[in-house]
Amino acid sequence: MHTPKPIIIGHRGAAGEAPENTLASFALALSQGAQAIELDVHITKDGEIVVCHDGTLDRTTNGSGLICNQQWADIQKLDAGAWFSEKFRGERIPLLSEVFDIVPKGTLINVEVKHAYEGRMESALLAFLRETDDRYEDVVVSSFDHKVIQRLKRAEPALKVGLLYAANLIDHAAYAKLLEVEVYSLHPHHHSFEREDIALAASDGLAVYPYTVNELTDYQRMIESGVTGIITDFPGRLKAFLNI
Ligand code: G3P
Ligand code: MG
Repeated sequence: MHTPKPIIIGHRGAAGEAPENTLASFALALSQGAQAIELDVHITKDGEIVVCHDGTLDRTTNGSGLICNQQWADIQKLDAGAWFSEKFRGERIPLLSEVFDIVPKGTLINVEVKHAYEGRMESALLAFLRETDDRYEDVVVSSFDHKVIQRLKRAEPALKVGLLYAANLIDHAAYAKLLEVEVYSLHPHHHSFEREDIALAASDGLAVYPYTVNELTDYQRMIESGVTGIITDFPGRLKAFLNI
């Protein structure tokens, strides 16, 4: 049976080769052939959606403290590139809207919600997506918080949503049905499923995007499992491996 090649999803852009979740990282991922990008979002004190993995600024910028306690005007001044390499000094934490501006229409954007912020993230994200409603097809929102996913889908049925998880569930596809809303994709840890789980998910019409796959032997394992896409820190490496 012919299995289509999985799509290349750049994790935090091309996080293996550029400072994660910066415009430079997303641009690099796209230039290397990523057909989708994954990014993480948090919300500032004044309600701006910013792209950063951690809820704090310490690891990836020259700032410190919680993002949700600080204003966008201050966060925007921080350097988010020099920690990775001097070459990237001057990169900033981007707004979600700035990432949308550089990603061509038709390229999938996987927005990972890290925290609900007592519902503030959901309201801000839905408001943002409604303002940019010609991008709905391009967006899939995922989270480890499946209640956030369920609430988002109930509030906006046009939104594609995905479940992130690390447990090897007894029945991955059946779990998705428990949410009682249409789930678009499963995002399991790449070590936490068997081949049969992918087949069952596919027969339920679910896309499967495992994270975060960086080694060639793991790429091969994912391809043989029949996954729909692969989330990787090295989009160029995966493209070469897929020979596309
Ligand atoms: O969305 C896949 C992956 O990013 C989930 O884990 O911690 O890298 O955001 P993390
Ligand atoms: Mg993530």
